[in-house]
Amino acid sequence: MPPLLELRNVKMYYNTSRGVVKAVDGVSFTLEKGEAMAIVGESGCGKSSLAFTIIKLLPKNVAEFSGEILFHDDGEVLEITKMSDDEIRRRVRWKKISMVFQASMNSLNPVLRVEDQLIEPLIHHQKLSREEAVKIAEEALYSVGLAKDLLARYPFELSGGMRQRVVLAMAIMMKPKLVILDEPTSALDVITQANIMNLLKDLKQKFNLSYILITHDIALASEIADKIGVMYAGKLAEIAMADVFFREPRHPYSQKLLAAIPTLREEKVIEHIPGDVPSLINPPPGCRFHPRCPYAIRGKCDVEEPVVKRVDGSNVACWLY
Ligand SMILES: Nc1ncnc2c1ncn2[C@@H]1O[C@H](COP(=O)(O)OP(=O)(O)O)[C@@H](O)[C@H]1O
Ligand code: SF4
Ligand SMILES: [Mg+2]
Repeated sequence: MPPLLELRNVKMYYNTSRGVVKAVDGVSFTLEKGEAMAIVGESGCGKSSLAFTIIKLLPKNVAEFSGEILFHDDGEVLEITKMSDDEIRRRVRWKKISMVFQASMNSLNPVLRVEDQLIEPLIHHQKLSREEAVKIAEEALYSVGLAKDLLARYPFELSGGMRQRVVLAMAIMMKPKLVILDEPTSALDVITQANIMNLLKDLKQKFNLSYILITHDIALASEIADKIGVMYAGKLAEIAMADVFFREPRHPYSQKLLAAIPTLREEKVIEHIPGDVPSLINPPPGCRFHPRCPYAIRGKCDVEEPVVKRVDGSNVACWLY
């Protein structure tokens, strides 16, 4: 069985007045059907850029977009990298792959009723009748635990958790196979966050959904992810199944990320990672993590880019292995 999604050496750079930002710089991974992969890493590592790249929502200032993004759809291969914007809109976005954008619950249009926000894309893009669209919207609301009378309400009348459920309803409405979730709970309080995570688990099971969950919160990732990808400065430093990863993170950056998680139950000294994520205009040569890495090998790590090695179930880009 081929994987659901395959990325091969994907790059996406931005043009800016200060130079070219290498936000996604040679990313490769596979995602299986029904699998949830979390992409974790600090802010500014290129996680959101990667999400936009996968559904080919590229901004005007894109400087480079290359590599291969393959979506395997019941025997057919959709080569996203080669499809026109129109084809992506007609065949892929929302129907095969949908996305919950970072902070999207706060970008619902405040003067449009929930009904109009949900059914407008169905009527305009999918050419459905109003009745068909309302029926689909009601079913989607039901799936996310909301009553259909919510359709008549305005976003400002809803709590944060309810708004996030509306956004999720939009994402699953067209029965996609993959949902990309960019920091889906970061604007919510912890209780609501837990409820939304439970909802995501239910939906995954019910519809055999695959997820790419983008988050800076590795503890959150641990709750749902089957697989973890650690992103640092535009590249994946490590990819491993979650059980392997949390038992034995291999990459020094992964180890630092895990050491920085506070726990309530154990006495633990919380470490912080010294230094900052580098600028992606002139990233450090060799291993991009070398200026912050306690194990950096001089003359090697600061010169040569590490190759990805398979180490006991993890794919890790580090010269220590
Ligand atoms: N539209 C854009 N134009 C230029 N640079 C951008 C744009 N969007 C993001 N960036 C830059 O790309 C890098 C990665 O950003 P982003 O993908 O948002 O990271 P993350 O989601 O991990 O915080 C950052 O340096 C950011 O400033
Ligand atoms: S390649 Fe070198 S600098 Fe990079 S993470 Fe490994 S040891 Fe550290
Ligand atoms: Mg982001």
